[in-house]
Amino acid sequence: MAEITLKGLGHSYFTTPRGDDDYALKPVDLVWEDGKTYALLGPSGCGKTTMLNIISGLLKPSDGELLFDGKDVTEAGTSARNIAQVFQFPVIYTTKSVRQNLAFPLECRNWAPARIADRVAHIAALLELDDILDAPARKLSADQKQLISLGRGLVRDDVSAVLLDEPLTVIDPQMKFSLRRKLREINRATGITMILVTHDQAEAMSFADVVVVMKDGRVQQAGPPEELFARPQNEFVGYFIGSPPLNLFATQAQDAGLYCPALGVNITPPKQMKNDTAKVGVRPEHIHLSQEIGDLPRATIKAIENLGIDRVFSLWTAGGEPFKVKSRRHKHLVQGDEVGLTVSPDDVLLFLGSQRVECSLSN
Ligand SMILES: Nc1ncnc2c1ncn2[C@@H]1O[C@H](COP(=O)(O)OP(=O)(O)OP(=O)(O)O)[C@@H](O)[C@H]1O
Ligand SMILES: [Mg+2]
Repeated sequence: MAEITLKGLGHSYFTTPRGDDDYALKPVDLVWEDGKTYALLGPSGCGKTTMLNIISGLLKPSDGELLFDGKDVTEAGTSARNIAQVFQFPVIYTTKSVRQNLAFPLECRNWAPARIADRVAHIAALLELDDILDAPARKLSADQKQLISLGRGLVRDDVSAVLLDEPLTVIDPQMKFSLRRKLREINRATGITMILVTHDQAEAMSFADVVVVMKDGRVQQAGPPEELFARPQNEFVGYFIGSPPLNLFATQAQDAGLYCPALGVNITPPKQMKNDTAKVGVRPEHIHLSQEIGDLPRATIKAIENLGIDRVFSLWTAGGEPFKVKSRRHKHLVQGDEVGLTVSPDDVLLFLGSQRVECSLSN
């Protein structure tokens, strides 16, 4: 097992890149700590597979260095890195049994038969494949096949990390949930670092200790799920994490600070800011609706979507800005109702030129 460090690591598929746009992965510094679970999250084409393939050694980066436990492995081949990679579609021998599939990587390394049998039994128990060890692999379901792919990676006892490139795509939603839980259990039991590539935010947030959000080849933010939710570094992360996404409201310059008419809050921004591009962001979960309006800023409910437990309210502010509120309460509210809005100061975020800046609320 190893700590993985990316030092100015980047990649262009062009031999002579002419600028940032020619980079599938723009140079980045990142440390993947030993033993944690990570998710690489971002839209299609943002460079997730490129980053993963550089870590596993399938791809040599055009820029920077890759270190395993401080040792430079940028030039090392895949076999020297001891990375287990699981792909979107299971890679198994369909003509072999489950047991033979799991044993094969060890046979290639000339392990003694008794040692192979022990190790295969251990991994099969971990993945709950023990009942089907002698079944032909071709007869199994998609999720069982993907478990075998994973087992083939884990069976070696020298694995530095497990890299999973959208391995749950072929699996139905119910099985996805249990396989994701199993992956976390294996991480806890073995302490193996796991990096899961996905473009599904719910999958990323429920799997990982740390989520790395990417867009256009650039790492936007890396942090625990709660941090990405509560303190998104920029508007993109606010939009990509959370469902519905972060609400954004206009601001006006007022006295020395800013005023957000939609929420009726005064904000003291950082000193150096220009006011013209400032927007206020608040999560749909953090805006409270009240039927006793009084002096509160007003909004009108345009639509209500029932999600079972939660309801998503689509509203317009008095100034005509659309926004959403997600809540378990307010069962009595209906379309067309006018409501008052409140937010807690901690939940008000300020974005300047789409980057979040620290701010405080004033009266
Ligand atoms: N072998 C290649 N040669 C040239 N360009 C490539 C190659 N592989 C990927 N790219 C480009 O690099 C960019 C990043 O691709 P990558 O496959 O890393 O994205 P991704 O985030 O894994 O996307 P997806 O979610 O669709 O799998 C894309 O613009 C893609 O077209
Ligand atoms: Mg990919």
